[in-house]
Amino acid sequence: MIIKAQGYDILIEKGSLSKAGEYLDLNRRVIIVTDDGVPGKYAQAVLAFCGGGSFIKTVPQGEGSKSFGTLQDILKAMTEAGLTRSDCAVAVGGGVVGDLTGFAASIYMRGIDFYNIPTTMLSQIDSSVGGKTAINFLGLKNIIGAFYRPKKVMIDENTLSTLTLRQINNGLAESIKMATTSDPELFDLFESGNPYDVPGTVIEKSLRIKNEVVSKDEKEKGLRRVLNFGHTIGHGIEANCEGKLYHGECVAIGMLPMCSDSLRARLSAVLEKYNLPTSCDIDAAKISEAVLHDKKSNGDSITAVCADEPGKFRFISMKPDDFREKINSITENRK
Ligand SMILES: NC(=O)c1ccc[n+]([C@@H]2O[C@H](COP(=O)([O-])OP(=O)(O)OC[C@H]3O[C@@H](n4cnc5c(N)ncnc54)[C@H](O)[C@@H]3O)[C@@H](O)[C@H]2O)c1
Repeated sequence: MIIKAQGYDILIEKGSLSKAGEYLDLNRRVIIVTDDGVPGKYAQAVLAFCGGGSFIKTVPQGEGSKSFGTLQDILKAMTEAGLTRSDCAVAVGGGVVGDLTGFAASIYMRGIDFYNIPTTMLSQIDSSVGGKTAINFLGLKNIIGAFYRPKKVMIDENTLSTLTLRQINNGLAESIKMATTSDPELFDLFESGNPYDVPGTVIEKSLRIKNEVVSKDEKEKGLRRVLNFGHTIGHGIEANCEGKLYHGECVAIGMLPMCSDSLRARLSAVLEKYNLPTSCDIDAAKISEAVLHDKKSNGDSITAVCADEPGKFRFISMKPDDFREKINSITENRK
């Protein structure tokens, strides 16, 4: 199954990793970037198809690797190996490895080919597609980066077999997000069906939604903001949870106050079905501070995404005090 994206193909095929050489142009010098939490066999499987001088660069797992330090390590390895503009970089891992490797590929010699082989549910459903690459800087997420399209994205659901259930559900949160705003049928699958039985369907449906949105607004001038549903409050939670909650878990909580009452009840039940949190015990004032840090109490407003029923969303302009009220409704520790 191939989805046509903006100038590149997304290949979704069970077992494709073992045929990487058929699908990707690897007969050249390749840097394969992975992290030390990704089973090494995935990067090794790709290396087996690469030309002479190719190598694997393993970075530490975790968000901390989306840093200038790790970026520099990768660029150093590329330079020392003498990679030329006709060589390429391949990411084998989750969103961290994908964002980092894509950015390295975008700036090495002003841009070399980049293939993304996502291995987490979140990266297969969401982050590997859309061309956003980035690192974090000065405590701000994704603040340094580039829009840089991969040459191809290759998705093999077999790699999900080594993920924990919590990581799987973390990724599903982003798919539930897309279903809530844009696809009642997919929402129905989450509400009444068993998505664990059909990961390929969930991946394909999610990527089709994301791809359609990105095709209309690649640089996030308007419509692409729908993909931020749940993320404004979610980021405020993520900034204050001391790493205890995963990204998708924070988004799960952040979506709830942005729903109509009836949808909120349904979405809450869906999130609970996938062991995703529906509230947190972080001080509401701290979340508000992170969300509204530069907004005046009654002056500036924020554009937010709201959903009224599965598949229907609206952009609304909200005052900081309205946001505070919404944040209060999802914290167990209301202050
Ligand atoms: N570029 C985008 O459009 C976009 C969109 C959403 C999120 N993101 C970014 O994605 C990142 C989160 O991605 P993530 O959730 O994939 O996290 P991640 O990349 O940190 O991976 C989660 C963990 O799973 C491990 N892992 C990866 N694949 C595995 C496998 N197959 N088996 C066992 N363990 C495996 C990793 O080592 C890591 O410890 C964040 O940095 C976020 O900003 C980017």
